[in-house]
Order: sequence, then C-alpha cells, then structure tokens
Amino acid sequence: MTGPGSQVVRLPSADEVAARVAGDVLALLRDAQASGRDPHLVLTGGSISRKVHAAMAAADEGPDWARVGFWWGDERYVAGDDEERNAGQAWEDLLARVPVDAERVHAMPAADDDYLDVEAAAWAHGEELSAAMPSVSDGEPWFDVLMLGIGPDGHCASLFPGRGEVESEAVVLAVRDSPKPPPVRITMGMATLRRARHVVFVATGEEKADAVARSVAGGALRETPAAGPRGLESTTWYVDDPAGARL
Ligand code: 6PG
Repeated sequence: MTGPGSQVVRLPSADEVAARVAGDVLALLRDAQASGRDPHLVLTGGSISRKVHAAMAAADEGPDWARVGFWWGDERYVAGDDEERNAGQAWEDLLARVPVDAERVHAMPAADDDYLDVEAAAWAHGEELSAAMPSVSDGEPWFDVLMLGIGPDGHCASLFPGRGEVESEAVVLAVRDSPKPPPVRITMGMATLRRARHVVFVATGEEKADAVARSVAGGALRETPAAGPRGLESTTWYVDDPAGARL
C-alpha cells in the first residue's frame, strides 16, 4: 500500500461492507462539520455504491445533511431521467431520503442538457467544480470524502486501463467508447481524484480480486487506474472476502 493512512477493511459479505462504509463515511462527514467545515462528498456509480447510499439514508445518526456538498466522480452521459444515471440512482437511494440542500448537489451534465457535446459539458462541469473549490495554490483538499468503485479491469470512476484519459490533466473530462456501457461518460480526472482528504474504495465480488490487489499495491496507472487515487489523509479499501482474496 502507498500513501498516508492506507488500510484495508475486509468483511465477509457485501451487505456488511456497505453498512461499514456508510457508518465510516457518515462519521467522517460529522467530524468535518465538528471542525467547522461544510464537507464535500464525492459519490460513485455502480452496484455496491447503491447499497452504501441506501445504508447511509437509513442510518440513525447522519451529518447535518443540508451542509454537505455532493459531487460525482463520474457520470453516464445519457438523458437526465435515464435510469442509468448515477445521479438519479443516488437521488433514489439517498438524496431524496435525507434533508439535503439541493443547491449543494452538483450532478454532472446530462445528454439532454444544453451543451454542444459531451466535451463541452465536461469542460463546463470542470469550471463549476474549480470555482467551488479552493485554488490549488492554497494546498487545500477539495473534498472531504471521495468514494470510488473498482472495475474488474482496474478502472475507477470512468478512467479505464490502456486509455489516454488516465494521463489527462483535465479537472473533468469526457470519455467516448467506454468499455463499460453506456459508452459516453464524464469523469473527474486523476488529479481531481487525488484532491480528497479521505479516499474510500468499495469493491465486492470475486471478479474484483485481481483489480483490488493491483489497486492496493499501487503501480502503473495506465494498467490500473484504481492504483492512482490516494487520500491526503487516508485511503481505505473496503472489500468483502471474495474481493480481498488476493491481498
Ligand atoms: C460507473 C462507476 C464505475 C463503477 C465500477 C464498479 O459509473 O459505472 O462509477 O466506476 O464504480 O465500474 O461498479 P460495480 O460496483 O457495479 O462493480
């Protein structure tokens, strides 16, 4: 493992992983608010994240939800009401179930928003994100917690192995011909995924075991994008036994 505060939390089942991630993330958000910060949380897409979001919504003790900013590490560039949208799933599982301030929920653009193309939409979201965060020169992290799933091929967000996007300097960028459908996406760039105090990877299922091992070990980003993101204060991999089998 590389970077400060790296650890693996391995639990028997996906449900136990989701419950533990939800509890730990909510505690980090409460800690940030106790320190006087309005925290920013980056959500991810994928199946295990839906379990995590539902567990967060059901928790007895949440943060002051109205003072949490929400962002996404990536999004599918489809119509805003398409069930494939990560934002739509997060609203269904979490955001509509707790008292968030909708003004602080920053969904990535949808294909039926008013942008010329996905590149223009990605650029605009990058501008929105950059304007909302302290400048890099302040050395301040942008996010308090950044959640990421891991694909069987070692992708995270919509940064896929063997593709140029992994090395992009862009804050947010467009992805076409994604190996994971749907094919057109928007994703935070790798540098942006490294601007969180706490990075939280969540992966379950035996098909993730190799990718999880490569993410934890670190290594060539082009081969394993999930080896790239690390928290400025901590990086934690939450895995079930099958996904942690090669650690
Ligand atoms: C997406 C996700 C993607 C996902 C991984 C893991 O929009 O598809 O952001 O990066 O997190 O593919 O997905 P699963 O948890 O469903 O395996």
